Amino acid sequence: MNKTVPVSKKLHVKTYGCQMNVYDSARMADVMAPHGYASSDRVDDADLVILNTCHIREKATEKVYSELGRLRLMKEEAARQGRRMLIAVAGCVAQAEGEEIVRRAPVVDMVFGPQTYHRLPELVIRALGRDGGRGAGVVDTEFPAEDKFDHLPEESQGQGPAAFLSIQEGCDKFCTFCVVPYTRGAEFSRPATAILQEARRLVASGTLEITLLGQNVNAYHGAGPDGRDWGLGRLIRALAEIDGLARIRYTTSHPRDMDDDLIAAHGEVPALMPYLHLPVQSGSDRVLDTMNRGHTAADYRRIVDRLRAARPDLALSSDFIVGFPGEGDRDFADTLKLVREIGYAQAYSFKYSARPGTPAASVADQLSEAAKSDRLEALQQLLNAQQRAFNEAAVGSVQPVLFERRGNRPGQLVGRGPWMQSVHAEAPDRLLGVQVDVAIALGGANSLSGRIVTVDVDPVTPSPLPPPAERVPA
Ligand code: 5AD
Ligand code: SF4
Repeated sequence: MNKTVPVSKKLHVKTYGCQMNVYDSARMADVMAPHGYASSDRVDDADLVILNTCHIREKATEKVYSELGRLRLMKEEAARQGRRMLIAVAGCVAQAEGEEIVRRAPVVDMVFGPQTYHRLPELVIRALGRDGGRGAGVVDTEFPAEDKFDHLPEESQGQGPAAFLSIQEGCDKFCTFCVVPYTRGAEFSRPATAILQEARRLVASGTLEITLLGQNVNAYHGAGPDGRDWGLGRLIRALAEIDGLARIRYTTSHPRDMDDDLIAAHGEVPALMPYLHLPVQSGSDRVLDTMNRGHTAADYRRIVDRLRAARPDLALSSDFIVGFPGEGDRDFADTLKLVREIGYAQAYSFKYSARPGTPAASVADQLSEAAKSDRLEALQQLLNAQQRAFNEAAVGSVQPVLFERRGNRPGQLVGRGPWMQSVHAEAPDRLLGVQVDVAIALGGANSLSGRIVTVDVDPVTPSPLPPPAERVPA
């Protein structure tokens, strides 16, 4: 008997949290593409819906359950129309909650963690075998011995002018506030050869900028093609040799792993952009110690000094946690002092939120919400003022901007300058994916705007320069 097999099914992935999750979501789509699943922006008519979750923020788990409540209604509507909608929870909440998710939300067909999504097609087959949605959902939250990256297909499509490339995952540092070592598992680095191949494929598909990703990206120590162990500095130097790769960035890094070679690379590799996200979390040695960060505020200052000696125009960004258990007024004052001394181009700051299962969550000396809010406001005021000053200082400069998307206003494109600032400019669509010099005219709280001063010569557009014969000879 001939059964009709649907040629195309729809996959909708909703992504929460960090860039690592954005990358993983794209790879989930790559894994399912050969099985007839095409990515879709629409959730209501999807055959497979994946919530790729994040566990860092407070109420993350509750948000997932309320989203699942909405999805249940859509799944019921699909069933009324005779369609089967599969619902999956992926990412760090899935890893942390595991079986509990299918117990609390029986609507969920599959639960899988960040280390098992290469097995997704197999999970889908098992879930489809569930008797019309009855019976237990399929849960796969192991940390398998096999390397996930060995089992992922090549990317089915390019990522555009600015792409992410995951080079490292997991973390062994166990900061006392953080769930990552539990949800993402032990530190693991991909072999350099695989990374270089992926980078070359991205560049061939039109990518000019690659951001190397990892929870602890500068702890990278992968096998190099020469049989040696490569650190991040070595890897960046090799990537910089790829023709057409104009920009390299990496995130997120830890001060403890800022080794000599990586610091030197900031001075020696022009493609390595002069912007670094280097989280410090707190300026107080006492708090840094109870956070188990493994460095002091003075160590951090020294690292920044060395980085700035290597690359004087380096701009810095950081993460901060305020109201960590036991943080006193003096500790918080030390954080403000460090921020004033370093001077940040941009930063993220959070109120401490107890994550179940982490050591800091069971410390008795938790601060009140009011105290945390006051501190967060004071810190953000300072950081916002620094960001504004940094943006204003760009006015009058000319920056190479890589245009990544259309702006909200017609005729406007938006891209990023070397220092990660968003830059808006009037520009034709043909400059999407092109790096162009922009004279910065305005610096706002969150972005810059300016006018294009040079246009890359485009084969189908007449050059704005006079023909060669009319140019003044050198
Ligand atoms: N509470 C508040 N902020 C946290 N972060 C991680 N865990 C917590 C927590 N329990 C912040 C840190 C980290 C960033 C990704 O999220 O600043 O660098
Ligand atoms: Fe979490 Fe980063 Fe600390 Fe690792 S180094 S435990 S990922 S905050």
